[in-house]
Amino acid sequence: MPKPLNLIVACAENRIIGRNGRLPFDIPEDKAWFHEKTAGTVVVLGRLCYQVWKQVRDDGRIPVVLTSDASLAAPGVHLARNVPQALALAQSLPGEIMICGGQRIYEETLPIADRLLLTLVHTEVPGDTWFPEWRHLAWRESWRKESADANYRYTFSVLERATGAPRTD
Ligand SMILES: NC(=O)c1ccc[n+]([C@@H]2O[C@H](COP(=O)([O-])OP(=O)(O)OC[C@H]3O[C@@H](n4cnc5c(N)ncnc54)[C@H](OP(=O)(O)O)[C@@H]3O)[C@@H](O)[C@H]2O)c1
Repeated sequence: MPKPLNLIVACAENRIIGRNGRLPFDIPEDKAWFHEKTAGTVVVLGRLCYQVWKQVRDDGRIPVVLTSDASLAAPGVHLARNVPQALALAQSLPGEIMICGGQRIYEETLPIADRLLLTLVHTEVPGDTWFPEWRHLAWRESWRKESADANYRYTFSVLERATGAPRTD
């Protein structure tokens, strides 16, 4: 059995996830959530995300980096040239699979994702990187927590891909 594909993302209501190579919001509780949920997992991520996340290998994370730049090869870092190759590698490595973005990887994997760990930030922010529309797909929310800090209101949700016919009772 292949391991489930988990996507983890923090997204504004207008689907913005990034600006100028950085997160468009600074939410310490979300950063802690992201670090906790990705600890000990195989993290699949794009080159830009990898290059800014200096501590990606801390806490037992195994990075699978999508890139055409073979010079990024390093001990314990797995490189892949496209999403199918990255997912095959991720399946062969020990640990849960967490797809961490950016935009193109999310776009290519959302249609086949089993679970979405979504932090929905209840605001619209300017930015240049988007998460694909997910709200039209069928999900079952298995967990939710509403939260807020001095700047933002946000909701953590775990959304399971709904399969099979809807119940009629
Ligand atoms: N809010 C969040 O949860 C979240 C999550 C992730 C990222 N972000 C934000 O998003 C931005 C970074 O994301 P990004 O989309 O600009 O960049 P990215 O995906 O991190 O990196 C882009 C590079 O990765 C490689 N790549 C990505 N997708 C690929 C694919 N499907 N097939 C082959 N190669 C692929 C290519 O590398 P080469 O050029 O080396 O070939 C591409 O130039 C930042 O602002 C970051 O803060 C936010």
